[in-house]
Amino acid sequence: MTIAPLVLGGNVFGWTVDEASSFSILDSFLDAGFNAIDTANVYSKWVPGHKGGESEMVLGKWFSRSGKRKDVILATKVGGAMGEGADEKGLKKAHILKAVADSLSRLQTDYIDLYQSHFDELGTPVEETLEAYSALVKAGKVRYIGASNFTPARLEESLRVSEAKGYPRYQTLQPLYNLMEREVFEKELGPICQKEGLGVIPYFSLAAGFLTGKYRTEEDLAKSPRGQGVKKYFNDKGLGVLKALDEVSVRRHSDPASVALAWLLSRPVVTAPIASATTLTQLTSLLKGAQLELHPDDVAQLDNASAWR
Ligand SMILES: NC(=O)c1ccc[n+]([C@@H]2O[C@H](COP(=O)([O-])OP(=O)(O)OC[C@H]3O[C@@H](n4cnc5c(N)ncnc54)[C@H](OP(=O)(O)O)[C@@H]3O)[C@@H](O)[C@H]2O)c1
Repeated sequence: MTIAPLVLGGNVFGWTVDEASSFSILDSFLDAGFNAIDTANVYSKWVPGHKGGESEMVLGKWFSRSGKRKDVILATKVGGAMGEGADEKGLKKAHILKAVADSLSRLQTDYIDLYQSHFDELGTPVEETLEAYSALVKAGKVRYIGASNFTPARLEESLRVSEAKGYPRYQTLQPLYNLMEREVFEKELGPICQKEGLGVIPYFSLAAGFLTGKYRTEEDLAKSPRGQGVKKYFNDKGLGVLKALDEVSVRRHSDPASVALAWLLSRPVVTAPIASATTLTQLTSLLKGAQLELHPDDVAQLDNASAWR
């Protein structure tokens, strides 16, 4: 499976973006030549009054109205532990078999291109989860599987078990990875992905909006419902990363969001960053980021400003 080098994040559909604007963003993303979209069964359960499944439902309506399902590489997830009672059966076989049916129904499709374990569940043996995926691949409901938020040990164990038992193998990892959050991925997970040939599709590529440069002061946090989530980056390192993004943006006639995505794409281990947009203007800067080539001096400056070693 091959994808264009930017995955559109779907958590905003039905949350910070209404249905009509979601459809415009999705149409524009495809019109620009991109094809991969990521969602999860629990999006957006954390919003008061939501149950989870809102994002998948918006996508399902869009597929049904536009007829564009065949043009999309569709990724969704199961096993997200978000809040009390949410997807509480995690990665157990019976739960996966039920959850996939619910996702397919909301998405109005009969197959998922990439089905991902959202969060690992240590109480469930990896064999059980992989056996469930094996049944789904055999039934044609899922094409490939991926992992997200796994520890290095459980990711390696899963790959070993798939090989030993002839089960499908995780083909991708979806880690938290961006200019503000490098250490966990770069220490152990990145080398495993490189050694095992896994595709890497990082999430929070823009650090939930911080790397766009729109949050510079406490007052700026009110600019978006996401504002409070970026407060933790208001420190010397965060300000240093924004300064580097500003300087590179000027040199490349670009903007911080595009440069932050281009930095991720400059890492050999990264297949395609995942990022979401709430407006068409934001989408334009994401698309530009996927096409922007940084100079080695730009990469070195961003590396230094965000270094953890
Ligand atoms: N596997 C996991 O555990 C996990 C966890 C989280 C996310 N994800 C995936 O990653 C995707 C992206 O995550 P995310 O949306 O949370 O984080 P993100 O991509 O880092 O941040 C995107 C947000 O930043 C703002 N933004 C984007 N472009 C902008 C621009 N050019 N200028 C100003 N603001 C801009 C928008 O929010 P506002 O307009 O509201 O400010 C947008 O929703 C999700 O949709 C999901 O698919 C996966």
